[in-house]
Amino acid sequence: MAVKIGLLGFGTVASGIPFLLKENGEKIRAAAKDKIEIAKILVKDDDEKNRLLAAGNDYHFVTDVDAIIKDPDISIVVELMGRIEPARTFIEAALAAGKHVVSANKDLLAVHGAELLAVAKEHRAALYYEAAVAGGIPILRTLANSLTSDKITRILGVLNGTSNFMMTQMVDEGWTYEAALAKAQELGYAESDPTNDVEGIDAAYKAVLLSQFGFGMTIDFDQVLHQGISTITPDDVAVAQELGYVIKLVGDIRETPSGIAAEVSPTFLPKEHPLASVNGVMNAVFVESIGIGESMYYGPGAGQKPTATSVVADIIRIARRLHDGNVGKSFNEFVRETQIAHPSDVKSAYYFAISTPDKRGQLLRLAQIFNSEAISFGQVLQQRANGDTARVVIITHSLSRTQLSNVLEKLEEVADFEVLNTFKVLGE
Ligand SMILES: NC(=O)c1ccc[n+]([C@@H]2O[C@H](COP(=O)([O-])OP(=O)(O)OC[C@H]3O[C@@H](n4cnc5c(N)ncnc54)[C@H](OP(=O)(O)O)[C@@H]3O)[C@@H](O)[C@H]2O)c1
Repeated sequence: MAVKIGLLGFGTVASGIPFLLKENGEKIRAAAKDKIEIAKILVKDDDEKNRLLAAGNDYHFVTDVDAIIKDPDISIVVELMGRIEPARTFIEAALAAGKHVVSANKDLLAVHGAELLAVAKEHRAALYYEAAVAGGIPILRTLANSLTSDKITRILGVLNGTSNFMMTQMVDEGWTYEAALAKAQELGYAESDPTNDVEGIDAAYKAVLLSQFGFGMTIDFDQVLHQGISTITPDDVAVAQELGYVIKLVGDIRETPSGIAAEVSPTFLPKEHPLASVNGVMNAVFVESIGIGESMYYGPGAGQKPTATSVVADIIRIARRLHDGNVGKSFNEFVRETQIAHPSDVKSAYYFAISTPDKRGQLLRLAQIFNSEAISFGQVLQQRANGDTARVVIITHSLSRTQLSNVLEKLEEVADFEVLNTFKVLGE
């Protein structure tokens, strides 16, 4: 008997599933211990259904979700519609009806994952979502299974292909943010509203999920500090290169003595850091742990086949467990009480670009302000900007988030100094 699945949505990722089921049918059958069959596909309306049928898609398309959720023959529901609603309502109803669910919806899982997992647990249903973080990189299952005996101390990740493509153009070609965005939109990497990608929101969703799998703690999306790439200027990029760094949008989740800290921010990476060579639309997750030390998982973070591959892997896992009679185990069993780090425990070196009138004694005044917060300099560079203005670039030694906000407040109070940009620096 085949395991019957119902797809919710038939867009980019979902329409890659039939290809994989056909192309790798034998292997999938051996792993799942049963044939996997697409029984029904939910589409929005009859127009869409007729369009898909006319295009040669020989499936049973339905326009009412109940046709899937109430079908006793369907055991796995695969949500690939995206966005919060109606995906959340549909998944909840499917779980409540005892269906197992696979999704790739990071937005939904990062914000409403806890409540959906509770419904899954109540109904002894599986809810798997490997594709929600870094599409084609099997990172969640790696953290949950292969690294289960290890203690993870930090996870760093290039988690958004669109912004990484843009940063690569800005670094390698010296493009402005605006030019890089226009190119990303022309190539279909960025949506017409790119906010989620360029402002670090998409990567922050993934950081929430990584915090659960890597550290057993559920950090709320609102507790992930996120800063995007839109304020990065060619001057920042050039000075980073001059000092031996590459700027990338990096997700950073780590455990400190007081708890966990997660943020997404443009970060100066030393050129020799493995993440510095992750270019274009590629993603990578760099894990620091006590046992293995450093390991990096690299691959496509999006795209039809890579993402569908992760989705089908989840489907296979559920089908196999259905066959073995042990379905319903949670995707991630590592759960601890969540403790959020105190800002004084979250430490990094920082890059400051500060504009100041080009007159004597300014550097000394700056040094005094930083010194009043016990912040010391690693590197200082003074550049003439234009006319009477100078641009001072400082790479500090390690400082805490508390020190950072204090010094920014003090700099704000001095009319002579304008902080142009502040970014985290790794490896100082
Ligand atoms: N694309 C990737 O590379 C990638 C990578 C990782 C994760 N994901 C995640 O995978 C999910 C699917 O992404 P995708 O790129 O395949 O999106 P997509 O191409 O936009 O496909 C979603 C499909 O679902 C349809 N849909 C939306 N609401 C529906 C409803 N109420 N009933 C029936 N159909 C509905 C959409 O129709 P309309 O177009 O008419 O709205 C569209 O055809 C998202 O959660 C995304 O974040 C995608």
